[in-house]
Amino acid sequence: MTLHDNEIDCVEELRNQVVERFGADPSQVRVVRSPYRVCPLGAHVDHQLGQVTAMALDQGVVLAYAPTNAARVRLASADFPGEVAFDLADVPARSQGDWGNFARGAALALQSRYVLHRGLVGVTRGRLAEGGLSSSAAVGVAYLLALEHVNSLDVSCEDNIDLDQAIENGYLGLRNGILDQAAILLSRQDQLLHLDCATRQHRRVAPGPGLAPYRILIAFSGLRQALVSTDYNRRVDECQAAARVLLDAVGRPASDPRLGRLTAAEYAAHGRLLVGPPARRAAHFFGEVARVEQGVQAWQAGDLATFGRLVTASGESSVSNYECGCAPLIDLFRLLVATPGVYGARFSGAGFRGCCVALVEADAAAAGAARVESHYARLHPDLAAAAPVLVCASGDGACVL
Ligand code: GLA
Repeated sequence: MTLHDNEIDCVEELRNQVVERFGADPSQVRVVRSPYRVCPLGAHVDHQLGQVTAMALDQGVVLAYAPTNAARVRLASADFPGEVAFDLADVPARSQGDWGNFARGAALALQSRYVLHRGLVGVTRGRLAEGGLSSSAAVGVAYLLALEHVNSLDVSCEDNIDLDQAIENGYLGLRNGILDQAAILLSRQDQLLHLDCATRQHRRVAPGPGLAPYRILIAFSGLRQALVSTDYNRRVDECQAAARVLLDAVGRPASDPRLGRLTAAEYAAHGRLLVGPPARRAAHFFGEVARVEQGVQAWQAGDLATFGRLVTASGESSVSNYECGCAPLIDLFRLLVATPGVYGARFSGAGFRGCCVALVEADAAAAGAARVESHYARLHPDLAAAAPVLVCASGDGACVL
């Protein structure tokens, strides 16, 4: 895996900081790159054991680190103030809003399965922590890979997916699925990751012949908030309430009901039993499952126009059925959809705050980004300073360089 142009200077600077700040031996300094991700189709179905699609971006979190002989971790960040320090033998509890949570969560998750003899000193940088690109899983994966490396642990991608999910579910308290970690660990440039969250089987779908050159627009709303303090977990409950009714109706009651345990035919037969929010969440789930299937076929056929239409339909379902948007994010979504050259757009990630994602013709990307940025600034002048639109490309999954 090669570094992208935008990362070369950053990596050198972080390496130097590890040496200067922590006195590390320059020959011992290594670097992990852990990308941000997008999920064009398959939003909010991972926690219900549905199928998702994902891609890593050519932008991500970079962590330069060196091993220490003591079992102690010391970290600095180019983006957040202060230093994080803790002993592996005595990892402190989560502290609300503290960037050190991810490293502490990673150490605890690993220690539930392995003995960590060595700690590390390190410096991180992740420019896009505003939400929607899964910066939290990218950071968590970066710490996991670095701690594994300094402890000579050989951990499979599948186990790292579990470990990172343990950080998010256990240490951070977000009841999310495996979309983020899987995308970050398993993606390959220009391939669409297709993941079944029930069986955890995945495949990388190569773009069909003739798939037009495209770019990925990331349009920030300027709204930042940790997911755990949004309605994310409440939506998971509402999906489970729907699943409980439907599983009871088909005679398969479950103690941990998930919509993915039902077939589309069962939903068609019994969906009328659902009312209110659970009815709308189930409508989103089953619509999204069908869109993922059609989208994978369109990608394989090199048909970005169809793929993009499905992405926009998924975005509309997030607004009306999953009800996870907010006014500025919905404005941004509609602006993107109306932009020349855009194949399709939707909220990125959970969609309560953060950014929208769009697939756009490569030649139209720069002009589209400028157009969306200026229109959004007119609609939301108060948010404009924190609402850039970036032109990205797809990238590779996380690794130690
Ligand atoms: C967040 C969660 C993921 C997934 C998406 C929505 O990114 O962390 O697990 O549920 O939202 O698809």
